[in-house]
Amino acid sequence: MTTPQGGCAWVTGASSGIGAAPAPLLARRGWQVAASACRAEALTAAAAVAGGILPVPVDVTDLAAGRAGVDRIETQLGPIGLAVLNAGRMQPMTARTLDSGAIRAQVEVILMGMVHCLEALLARLIARRRGHLVVVTSSPGYRGLPGSVD
Ligand SMILES: NC(=O)c1ccc[n+]([C@@H]2O[C@H](COP(=O)([O-])OP(=O)(O)OC[C@H]3O[C@@H](n4cnc5c(N)ncnc54)[C@H](OP(=O)(O)O)[C@@H]3O)[C@@H](O)[C@H]2O)c1
Repeated sequence: MTTPQGGCAWVTGASSGIGAAPAPLLARRGWQVAASACRAEALTAAAAVAGGILPVPVDVTDLAAGRAGVDRIETQLGPIGLAVLNAGRMQPMTARTLDSGAIRAQVEVILMGMVHCLEALLARLIARRRGHLVVVTSSPGYRGLPGSVD
């Protein structure tokens, strides 16, 4: 695992759920952390759990917002050395409640949101020849689970 000397950390989906854990954990270990999600108030509340967390609201379905978020983070905290791409949205459904609109919305966040963050970030990591990426995915990527389409 990279060290805080390798730059700051960026966690997406950091306002609630699984993503609310790594930002304070990294901050307590000495990282400067940027925390992103859509809901600015929830993000600020989650960031207040530990010092050293900068809330940077970003909707990952919007590539331009992702680029602007990365610009802001690197301007305020320095190079991103670790990105935890965790933003996601899940609506449980079954064969009886299958809803293509809801599935499309999930794909926009879980898949394209992660791709947008990578597009905003990768050229910088490659140019610096350093940086670590953590992508949070889902076990239904390996096999189906009841009520889950992701
Ligand atoms: N919980 C599980 O059992 C489970 C199982 C398998 C995989 N996962 C994966 O783990 C990750 C986190 O899941 P979770 O259960 O912690 O979900 P969650 O509690 O619903 O949290 C999702 C996080 O993503 C953020 N988010 C949603 N849409 C976003 C967008 N367009 N742009 C930026 N941030 C957005 C949410 O904040 P805002 O609403 O403020 O944007 C929230 O902070 C997801 O990638 C999910 O697919 C979870």
